[in-house]
Amino acid sequence: MFQDVFIVGATGKVGSTLVRQILEKRDTDASLHANPTRVVGVASRDNFAYSPRGLSPSQAYGFASRNFGDVNRYTDLHELVEAADIGTRTSSSSLVFVDATPVLDEMTRFHIYVVGTTPYSIVTANKNPIALSDYQTFQALTGNPRRYGYRCSVMAGSDAVPFMLDLRDLNEALLSIEGCFSGTLGYIASELDKDRKFSEILSEAHKKGYTEPDPRDDLRGLDVARKIIVLARSAGCEVGIRDIKPRPFIPEEYLKNESIQDFLANSVNLDQHFSDMLKSARKRGNTVRYVATMNLNQGYPEIEVALKEVPLESSLGMLKGTRNKIVIATECYPQDRPYIIEAPGAGLEVTARNIRRDLIGLLTERTSTNHTVNHRR
Ligand SMILES: NC(=O)c1ccc[n+]([C@@H]2O[C@H](COP(=O)([O-])OP(=O)(O)OC[C@H]3O[C@@H](n4cnc5c(N)ncnc54)[C@H](OP(=O)(O)O)[C@@H]3O)[C@@H](O)[C@H]2O)c1
Repeated sequence: MFQDVFIVGATGKVGSTLVRQILEKRDTDASLHANPTRVVGVASRDNFAYSPRGLSPSQAYGFASRNFGDVNRYTDLHELVEAADIGTRTSSSSLVFVDATPVLDEMTRFHIYVVGTTPYSIVTANKNPIALSDYQTFQALTGNPRRYGYRCSVMAGSDAVPFMLDLRDLNEALLSIEGCFSGTLGYIASELDKDRKFSEILSEAHKKGYTEPDPRDDLRGLDVARKIIVLARSAGCEVGIRDIKPRPFIPEEYLKNESIQDFLANSVNLDQHFSDMLKSARKRGNTVRYVATMNLNQGYPEIEVALKEVPLESSLGMLKGTRNKIVIATECYPQDRPYIIEAPGAGLEVTARNIRRDLIGLLTERTSTNHTVNHRR
């Protein structure tokens, strides 16, 4: 049985890595995979290619590297569904749209349409439709885990989302979540630990492409807020982005409207601020991390996203570089023995790998290839 995949955003960093990984890992090879993948469609912002029997590797590779060749133009995502409807898809095969775009409104409508009115499924690396829509939309989209995979919306697809989803089915109470979900802010915080100047770290991170093109987009903490929303909702908490007011990594008055270059230049004015903050934290055996927390207060979620002092020897205090970490306390994993996941917060290979993992999770009749990976000497 084939799993047909239509990758939207196939020309982007994540999407093109996914195309390459599917082909290079031979997910398409029926002799290796009991449930081989067939890349039937690829789309960019306004072009797509589709073949119900699967695109050839050269077509898929070519499209992903923007050598479009003979492709179709489109203006509305619904046209991709119309294209997918063409072809002889048997009931034993399935089609999954992969969303590897950063689009909000248009994609939210598309996800709702696919899940609500077609037999197809969605795997998304794009967190916007589930973090920024209302809670009812989140529920409608994610209600059937066999139709909607979204693990890659948080921590590049680590087990954070599946862990939260399982809590409800296990009828296990969530007590708290505490996590560092921004690779960029994690990097800055752990470089501050080395007594480096904030302005130098920021400029370096910007130059190396660790930050968004405008680093203020990271420093505002909105992306972290979206991730804690996805996790909280996955655990069954009715929360929305309006319930959270992230405190930016830097004082609000420095987030004023000026060019990126002026902003980076003026960030020297924050060097003393961070140096004093670190000195004072260290006196208490602490350091600082940008932390998202959610505590359940008599069942009501209280969420905070802010730069916080944490003990140097704590789980989050020991976190280094761009890695992410989540500390989850539940009925079964209480506060003194929490469940901890540490993983990369981004990364193209790891994200593509975990999109493939979500695709496996959507198979209704998963059968193992059952091949032996070691050989007797
Ligand atoms: N980078 C990571 O490590 C990582 C990890 C986890 C999750 N994610 C998420 O994955 C998504 C993609 O990230 P990326 O870094 O690959 O982005 P990217 O390189 O900017 O690629 C975006 C892709 O989306 C397409 N696109 C843009 N607007 C569109 C529209 N209106 N309709 C259809 N397609 C559209 C683009 O097509 P054109 O080429 O035609 O512009 C491109 O193929 C984002 O939501 C991101 O947050 C990224």
